[in-house]
Amino acid sequence: MSQALHPMLNIAVKAARAAGAIINRAALDIDILKVNTKNPNDFVTEVDHASERVIIDTLLEAYPGHGILAEESGRTHGAKHSDYVWIIDPLDGTTNFIHGLPTYAVSIALSHRGQIQQAVVYDPARNDLFYASKGRGAYLNDRRLRVSKRTRLSDSLIGTGFPFRKGDNFKRYLKIFEEVMQHCAGLRRPGAAALDLCYVAAGWYDGFFETGLQPWDVAAGSLMVSEAGGLIGNFTGDADFLHQREVVAGNPKVYGQLVQLLAPHTHVIAQTAPSAEPEPELTPEAALAATAPAKTATRVRKPRREDDAA
Ligand code: IPD
Ligand code: CA
Ligand code: CA
Repeated sequence: MSQALHPMLNIAVKAARAAGAIINRAALDIDILKVNTKNPNDFVTEVDHASERVIIDTLLEAYPGHGILAEESGRTHGAKHSDYVWIIDPLDGTTNFIHGLPTYAVSIALSHRGQIQQAVVYDPARNDLFYASKGRGAYLNDRRLRVSKRTRLSDSLIGTGFPFRKGDNFKRYLKIFEEVMQHCAGLRRPGAAALDLCYVAAGWYDGFFETGLQPWDVAAGSLMVSEAGGLIGNFTGDADFLHQREVVAGNPKVYGQLVQLLAPHTHVIAQTAPSAEPEPELTPEAALAATAPAKTATRVRKPRREDDAA
């Protein structure tokens, strides 16, 4: 790495590399992997847990007063009321990993009062390190990243993710898919949202959209996009997207054209009010939202059409 990293980013890189070593070792022998099903089509392995553990240990050793929001352990670790919250996806692309398809990553972001300040996405199969600090640019290994210069959606390569969970509104997604497909040059679905956003930052995709994502899928990648000169938001182009379970990103020109297509489909996945949760504990997302400025609080919106509840 050519430049001196922010100390907090340095620790995040150390954590991501330690997690990557665990993932790479396990990838040599995926036949003996223990896989559990969280929900239909939603898997977790012992590798997700081991990766998460080493990341949390590394971060909290350096910053014991910080908070943690991690995919597998929620807010169990770290301080509960810190302005600093590390948002962790220990293995983004678990389904690919289980099948031996080498497209997955470790994603770590640091949020300060609801703003993402530091980000690392590490692709251990390729030893590719994407990182960004707010105001200091986004990088892949030693190379500064810039979003693509393509101006027309019709010439653009767009990334997406397919819905696969109950309640994901598959029918509505198919309508969106059909529309975007007819307006762009190609659509891709590699299967790791954190990397998808890095591909926008690198200019490999001109844009990206997906529904149903969680903060840990997109927190780090969002800083890569904005530090590479791109835009990221919800389907109506609102910058407040982290908890809204829909995201669109792209170079500024393509972002605008994608928003035009996606805006009528905003909030196809109903949001859950923190108070509607059966548990007395806050959800991880709600707990994080509580640390953010008021405008980023989780919203409650009803499905707009009857078929939206599918
Ligand atoms: C998944 C990946 C995938 C996206 C899913 C995510 P996971 O993350 O990012 O690309 O389509 O919605 O859940 O479960 O492998 O960490
Ligand atoms: Ca993920
Ligand atoms: Ca994951």
